[in-house]
Amino acid sequence: MAPIASTSTYFDFRQALTTKKLVGLWRMMSDYRLAYAAANLSLAVSATAKMFTYLLLRNFADTILGDAAPFAGTLERTLIVIALGFVGLALLEGGFSYFSGRLAAYSAEGITRRLRNFLFDHIQRLSLAYHSKTPTGDLIERVTSDVDSVRSFFNEQAIGIGRIVFLFIINFLAIWDLSWKLAMASIVVIPLILVVSLWFFKKVTTAYEKYQEQEAMLSTTLQENLTGVRVVKAFARQEYEKAKFEKDNWEKFLRGKAFLKMHSLFWPLSDIACGFQMLGGFVYAAILAIHGEITVGTYPAYVGLVVWLIWPMRNLGRIIVQTSTGLVSYGRLMEIIKQERENLTDGRAQAQGAVLPVSTLHRTQDGVPPRPGPPVPAPQVQADGTGQAQVSLPSRTGVPPMLAARTVSKDPVRGEIVFEDVSFQYEDSGSEVIKNVSFHVRPGDSVALLGSTGSGKTSLVNLLPRFHEYTDGRILLDGVELKDYPREYLRRQIGIVEQEPFLFSRSIGENVSYGVGRDVPQDEVERAARAAAIHDVILSFPDGYKTLVGEKGVTLSGGQKQRVAIARTLLKNPRILILDDSTSSVDTETEAEIRAALNRLMENRTTFIIAHRIQSVMNADLILVMDKGTVVQMGKHEELVAQDGMYRRIYEIQTRIDEELEQEVQSVK
Ligand SMILES: Nc1ncnc2c1ncn2[C@@H]1O[C@H](COP(=O)(O)OP(=O)(O)OP(=O)(O)O)[C@@H](O)[C@H]1O
Ligand SMILES: [Mg+2]
Repeated sequence: MAPIASTSTYFDFRQALTTKKLVGLWRMMSDYRLAYAAANLSLAVSATAKMFTYLLLRNFADTILGDAAPFAGTLERTLIVIALGFVGLALLEGGFSYFSGRLAAYSAEGITRRLRNFLFDHIQRLSLAYHSKTPTGDLIERVTSDVDSVRSFFNEQAIGIGRIVFLFIINFLAIWDLSWKLAMASIVVIPLILVVSLWFFKKVTTAYEKYQEQEAMLSTTLQENLTGVRVVKAFARQEYEKAKFEKDNWEKFLRGKAFLKMHSLFWPLSDIACGFQMLGGFVYAAILAIHGEITVGTYPAYVGLVVWLIWPMRNLGRIIVQTSTGLVSYGRLMEIIKQERENLTDGRAQAQGAVLPVSTLHRTQDGVPPRPGPPVPAPQVQADGTGQAQVSLPSRTGVPPMLAARTVSKDPVRGEIVFEDVSFQYEDSGSEVIKNVSFHVRPGDSVALLGSTGSGKTSLVNLLPRFHEYTDGRILLDGVELKDYPREYLRRQIGIVEQEPFLFSRSIGENVSYGVGRDVPQDEVERAARAAAIHDVILSFPDGYKTLVGEKGVTLSGGQKQRVAIARTLLKNPRILILDDSTSSVDTETEAEIRAALNRLMENRTTFIIAHRIQSVMNADLILVMDKGTVVQMGKHEELVAQDGMYRRIYEIQTRIDEELEQEVQSVK
């Protein structure tokens, strides 16, 4: 597949991470600084042209209206030259101003385009732990509204500062050329403007931070309510949700008002200060003219120039105040950017499928977990520079392993899984959700997990693709500890049908072939769909495999979604298959159909099945009965039924319900 964006449009925004926000924004401008320099230069040319307009005005007044000698021979010729000069200068000024505007817009759009691309990529590489504690609406808000504030900064303030500095210097020098006294008298207000702007800068920063926080909250509410619109309707909670939204929206209104109040207070204040400055300058220039210290022509020139000296001073204040929003948004974006990405390639080993792993040393034949013993030291891995690593696996018993060192390759895993005293606790929860779990699965075996809701089944299987890291004990895959496998490799080996599958708003065909990463022939897609007992259903849709799935698959029923998800996972052809309650939303008949298809597909794959119905788990090679994070019973169906315990109790209840149901059906018939 061709890369979507060339590398030149990629910029790692983590390079812009710093506590000095202006420095951070400067770093973001990387690759575009030349464009900004050109834009500023254009503005300088434009400003110079403007200044010359006023100098020409002075000449006009002095030669045509006053009594200075015409510089182009006759008075008429001088007039024509001056007139052409005005036109030429206006063209220069307008042309370069346009050019700088174009450059600024191009740069600002360019920077924010790659910023958006970076954020999108970065966010989907953050850990599941981060995503589970961060509201989606908040992320959306930052990627849209805050990125836009940063864009404004680059489009307006970053270019504005150049314009201000140039206009100020050029006009100040021009006035200095007229009279140094006038020049000095025209800038007395600068310290006042600086102090007032900095005070407002602080105020606006706080107000804008609060405003953006509230906006993020509103966008979270909106996103959640749209996603959960069915719940709102089902519980007829529209009025309650409306009131809640209105309250939050009112708060946003208040904060927006406070923010705008700061702005609207600042503008008149700075305008008044600048107005006084201008008036003072006019009066002082008039006095100088009366006393003959400047010519009559100098006066209108000064009047024209001083406007453009005041303009940058006035706008300096504006820029300082407006920059605050860009800086606040920069800070909010950096809060995402500084988050550590989930490392997909950090593992040290990639197991080779064919080589006999050392873990056979502690393999048990009966599915009973290995007896506890001294912990096995971690495998030693040395890179050999060829992209392959040497892994030496020390023995658990101190006896030298059969294969002291082996080369690991990118081959698929065999699928032998050993849990050794594994415990796990979510980062933000107070207690362990998996406690000292040990079991052993041979390659190609199926393991069933049965247990009450919240007993930790999903949490346990989520450890396998390293969605979360176990906190204690070890999990070995083909004899190598799970932590030593790069996540990306591991996830290519493992297929999960999630408890609540998510389908994209794309065609059903695309959803099925989603995880394969190549163009899949239609017959392969159909084979997977048949195996998941969904093919006929798909054909019954108007556009077959091209039928679009609404957001979150609203056009599909729960059971249909589950089956599309099963097809998607089967097509990926993983060595390890995890089915998390994947048949919970289908009727008994369909479940039997899927189970039959799965039984064929489970051959040669290590499979984890989480299910609530005994029928779904009774054929498994190993059944784990879980309760409150621990495995309370383990074995095959026959063994477990023979034991007095949770499994038999569940079995008896389910059998009784099935029998009663059967009897009722019979009686109705
Ligand atoms: N992301 C998470 N962060 C913190 N705690 C979690 C998280 N996910 C689950 N838990 C907690 O871990 C415990 C086990 O949850 P888990 O989803 O593994 O149960 P389960 O056995 O799969 O239940 P069910 O049969 O209902 O699917 C629960 O107490 C739950 O509250
Ligand atoms: Mg679960």
